[in-house]
Amino acid sequence: MKDRSVAGGGGLQGEVRVPGDKSVSHRALILGALAEGETVVEGLSSGADVGSTKTCLEALGVEISGAAPSVRVRGRGLGGLKAPAGDLDAGNSGTTMRLMAGVLAGHPFSARFTGDESLTRRPMKRVAEPLRAMGAAIALSEAGTAPMTVTGGALKAIEYALPMASAQVKSAVLLAGLHAKGETAVVEPAATRDHTERMLAAFGVRVGIHGLRVSLDGGSRLKATKVLIPGDPSSAAFWVVAATLAPGSELAVRGVGANPTRTGYLSVLARMGADIHREPARGEGGESVEDLIVSSSDLSGVEVSAGEVPGLIDEVPILALAAALAKGESRFEGLGELRHKESDRLAGIASLLTSFGASARVEGDDLCISGVKTLKAAMVDSLGDHRLAMTGYIAGVLARGDSGVMDAGCAEISYPTFYDDFNARRGA
Ligand code: S3P
Repeated sequence: MKDRSVAGGGGLQGEVRVPGDKSVSHRALILGALAEGETVVEGLSSGADVGSTKTCLEALGVEISGAAPSVRVRGRGLGGLKAPAGDLDAGNSGTTMRLMAGVLAGHPFSARFTGDESLTRRPMKRVAEPLRAMGAAIALSEAGTAPMTVTGGALKAIEYALPMASAQVKSAVLLAGLHAKGETAVVEPAATRDHTERMLAAFGVRVGIHGLRVSLDGGSRLKATKVLIPGDPSSAAFWVVAATLAPGSELAVRGVGANPTRTGYLSVLARMGADIHREPARGEGGESVEDLIVSSSDLSGVEVSAGEVPGLIDEVPILALAAALAKGESRFEGLGELRHKESDRLAGIASLLTSFGASARVEGDDLCISGVKTLKAAMVDSLGDHRLAMTGYIAGVLARGDSGVMDAGCAEISYPTFYDDFNARRGA
């Protein structure tokens, strides 16, 4: 896919709005499909991953009209999806495959999920195990990866202690639980993003939340509603870090999701000394949004504990770049889950930063970074991972000289207009 060259230098000025939140967008389409009536979605992500969820739902008989950011989903009611005529292609999207597996576990037919080369390397046993315990038959490769065939039917409710902090697995079990008999509960080892719970409540489902235990009753019907999707904090993080590190920047990032399960990156940057003014959050449906006003500033090294990681899991690449240009040492603990993302992101981050002349090493599941004053120009490989592509591009902006990112086009997974939006706000 397309490579990108990038010249170093120049601050960021003006205002920007990031695309709709990817996680919330998947859930809006899925819950809309399971609801009774027509769900109106505003602010849907135009990224390719959400496109994969849309295509899978259409193959299951769901009518979705309009195009991102404004779509309407004609709900088929709980258990109302139709058997697909062929494979369901989840593309690069783990969220599509895992959440939809939960939904299809409650439908009395077989469906086979496929995905691209990256997705067919990612672990699917983590969803297969609880869904099998509920009564679905799930076939995987010997390595526990896709293609994954889900044969659903009558499910029984379970109480499931999640072995890892994963919002995707939590959501798969809850979505299956809607179709099960009795109360399904998930107990998390640490709080993860709670968009499924919030949106289920917005669709009229009673969700019990007691500490880290989330529960719902099978057979709860969903009522169509209007969903306003906030700007994606994971996309905003690229802007916030770039404006912090590029001298002479003054940038407003507007309408960013302020859900506390997603804003861990802002707390880390504040500890590093970043100058980020958070304008008071305002409500938008079950989610709230805020404006972030960022001015460039010097940063110091930071310690990020394993307990904080679920709240900033997708922002680690760009936070690691911030650490590479901070004064002193930084340590991010407990990053093992990053090995199972769109690439082995832990190795990918260390190799990307090292190419730019920073000192980054992996110690067990931890990432240790010694800050440098300047980055040198480099040509880096995104490994087909959208978050590494955008991190590499920003590193190129901050480096001296001309850099490049190979296979940079994968940014379309979450942020199709990233490079154009970025260059439109760059000063000379
Ligand atoms: C997501 C959950 C996280 C995150 C992913 C989106 C979701 O994955 O990394 O980008 O929408 O639920 P895990 O559940 O695998 O941690």
